[in-house]
Amino acid sequence: MIHLQHLVKDYGRTRAVDDLSLEVTAGEVCVLIGPSGCGKTTTLRMINRLIEPSSGHILIDDQDISQIKPERLRLSIGYAIQSVGLFPHMTVATNIAVVPKLLNWEKEATSQRVEELLRLVGLDPGEFGHKYPGQLSGGQAQRVGVARALAADPPILLMDEPFGAVDPLTRERLQYQFARIQQELKKTVILVTHDLNEAIRLADRIAIMSAGKLVQYDTPETILSRPANKFVHDFVGTDRALKRLSRIGVEGFVKPANPVAITDSISKIAAVIGRQPSAWVVNGDGRLLGWIDRKSLAQASSASQVLVAQTADEVAISRGATLHEALSLMLGQGVKSVPVVDEQERLIGEVSLSDVEAATVETEA
Ligand SMILES: Nc1ncnc2c1ncn2[C@@H]1O[C@H](COP(=O)(O)OP(=O)(O)O)[C@@H](O)[C@H]1O
Ligand SMILES: [Mg+2]
Repeated sequence: MIHLQHLVKDYGRTRAVDDLSLEVTAGEVCVLIGPSGCGKTTTLRMINRLIEPSSGHILIDDQDISQIKPERLRLSIGYAIQSVGLFPHMTVATNIAVVPKLLNWEKEATSQRVEELLRLVGLDPGEFGHKYPGQLSGGQAQRVGVARALAADPPILLMDEPFGAVDPLTRERLQYQFARIQQELKKTVILVTHDLNEAIRLADRIAIMSAGKLVQYDTPETILSRPANKFVHDFVGTDRALKRLSRIGVEGFVKPANPVAITDSISKIAAVIGRQPSAWVVNGDGRLLGWIDRKSLAQASSASQVLVAQTADEVAISRGATLHEALSLMLGQGVKSVPVVDEQERLIGEVSLSDVEAATVETEA
């Protein structure tokens, strides 16, 4: 557990951090969020003793970190920053191995660890291990940065806008991947961001800061439904109901989709469709192939003649998606329901706009 007690940091006459007290539970993700200049980076840098507080204390597992040598302290804390900070003249593998080397790990153990971490962050070790940072895309470099922070398996991870410098799509992928990794590793994480959606998506608890002070520290649900004051209310914005949808998985809302099989006869398909305007079409393995319009059936002799082919990544969402993603897809495509598929793109059902709306109203109450 990380315990910040009445932390203050002054730079001359600027009070960057102002009487900040905060407890971060082991194995949880605490997201520090607030406007630029509110003291987020300064707080993180005090936790790994890159800078010293003007007053106050930081305890890790009840030990005051001012009593721990900074070099030793930092071996138990992974640190990933927005600019990534990879050493440009070292390969990806050497970059990740920096801390294991400091810890005198065996060569074999180190290279095994490097491979394992590259796979964990979704990069092929054979392809990327020998590359130099300059040969990576922004998103790839960020992933190497996260792998390096995890290298010595530190119990604590500090991340300062780790997904900041990439395009929105890559950012969402990295967030999703981080959430998956964290589910597995259960690190104690303090993550800094100024992106509220990122905070809502990743946080167990959100700490909202303003001008060096902590203004609210709560679960995302509570921050969205009961903002502590006008600052938080304004910061969180007006579409709170929408934002809450990104905390709700679609799985509880999936209803049967009554698909037809591409090999079914036209008469069977007509019977399944009944009075619905259309139906989803799957192959023999249940994989989504597209859809069929009821009106087109009359002239057809086989389903494949009138199939509107559409791949799952165009029209469907995965069962791990949130209601927010489902809604975005519906709004983007102008449809009132979207199919939900499993990891093999097999159709497992659909989610409808009315269910999303109902969830919005419920969570608003
Ligand atoms: N090394 C420094 N010297 C002087 N002022 C600093 C220094 N680092 C940060 N500050 C000031 O402290 C305040 C908080 O900065 P910072 O923690 O970087 O904010 P954030 O990460 O939330 O954007 C800002 O007013 C910033 O200008
Ligand atoms: Mg900062």
